[in-house]
Amino acid sequence: MALEKLIVRDSGPLNGSVSISGSKNASLPILAATLLTEGECVINRVPDLSDTNYMFQILGMLGAEVERSSGRMVIEAKNLTPTAPYELVRKMRASVCVLGPLLSRLHEAKVALPGGCIIGDRPIDLHLRGFEALGAEVEFDGGNILLSAPKGLTGARLNLSGKFGSTVLGTDNVMMAAVLADGTTVIEGAAVEPEVVDLADFLNGMGAKVSGAGTTTITIEGVDSLKGREHTVIPDRIEAGTFLVAGAIGGGEVTIKNADASHLISLIEKLRETGYDLTTQGKNITIRPNGEPKGCNISTEPYPGFPTDMQAQMCALFATTPGTSVVTENIFPQRFMHVAELTRMGADVHLEGATAIIKGVDHLSGAPVMASDLRASAALVLAGLKAKGETEVNRLYHIDRGYEHIDRKLRKLGADVVRAPM
Ligand code: UD1
Repeated sequence: MALEKLIVRDSGPLNGSVSISGSKNASLPILAATLLTEGECVINRVPDLSDTNYMFQILGMLGAEVERSSGRMVIEAKNLTPTAPYELVRKMRASVCVLGPLLSRLHEAKVALPGGCIIGDRPIDLHLRGFEALGAEVEFDGGNILLSAPKGLTGARLNLSGKFGSTVLGTDNVMMAAVLADGTTVIEGAAVEPEVVDLADFLNGMGAKVSGAGTTTITIEGVDSLKGREHTVIPDRIEAGTFLVAGAIGGGEVTIKNADASHLISLIEKLRETGYDLTTQGKNITIRPNGEPKGCNISTEPYPGFPTDMQAQMCALFATTPGTSVVTENIFPQRFMHVAELTRMGADVHLEGATAIIKGVDHLSGAPVMASDLRASAALVLAGLKAKGETEVNRLYHIDRGYEHIDRKLRKLGADVVRAPM
């Protein structure tokens, strides 16, 4: 993979419209769920990202027949092996979501343990707790997780809440393990994110009996088998949010199309509080200035609270918003790598534990910056839109993990952004 960087220049107000892609975080578990059936599944609106590409390759390595063309993936998993290769799995933490489907369908799985990740310690103890409750044995060997349930899985009542609240992929994983189990499973403390609901909709379309997705108690009645199914993934609420913040930073009028405003309520509320006018019409959301912006406070929470995946982008906005903003990160307390880079660009940010206190400055100044995480990188691009001079965002591959053609989309809004070799 050629190393690339993004060169961003002060772009003035952005204007125009941009279409939102399918959700990365909904696509990944839904693609993994296609392993639950021998039947052919067709998944539409899969964003063209390196993460979906890794999942595509993992499905192929597990034995599925896979085809991909412009947002459409066709998967037929007739013959599967239970072992996911380390070389691929290590590239994407979300590969752990093949554990549930493999365990469910083959009664065994061997998947490399995801390593630490730059946004902090990311354990999977809750996923494993759920699998154990369904009767699986868990072992660790040579850096791999081995799951086995020679007699199959049995429905159970279990609780998936942890120290930092519910777990999104953990809920997905246990839900996928339970769909073919013997009897009924009740997941308490389940994550209620829209991506969990999208997965449950897909599973039900395949013939599963899942109810309560979108609430903290999900009930799954096990069935004998599932069938192939066509499904279209929901719009990416984090990409949508990122482009709304791009509109806010520029101070022009930006419309995002093909979005779902009902998934963005806490963000829309906070952008209004910061001094923007947001209006929704069908699948379109428009943001424009509404008087002088002013700092505000955000605190990340599980859905429907303010999403941790939008925290870094809001820090970029607050960096040049008059007044003081206070940003508290409750989901991943160490998720503040963007702060050091924003400071290098002239932002006035003070970190106290998991809280950033940001005093808005008049302008930032462009600098070569580097981020080691997807959303932090996006935040630096946004900051560059309002920084004097040139901002060079290095390690673009982080952004390409989660944003489809971010440079092209920003240019469509009038931003001065170019991709260049490093
Ligand atoms: C998903 C999203 C990610 C988002 C996160 C929180 C995907 C592919 N990724 O990640 O973009 O930032 O939700 O909204 O959908 N935890 C445990 N034990 C576990 C699992 C999680 O302690 O077994 C903790 C985590 O460290 C974290 C919190 O629970 O503090 C929430 O994590 P979780 O919801 O599991 O995040 P992911 O599903 O991995």
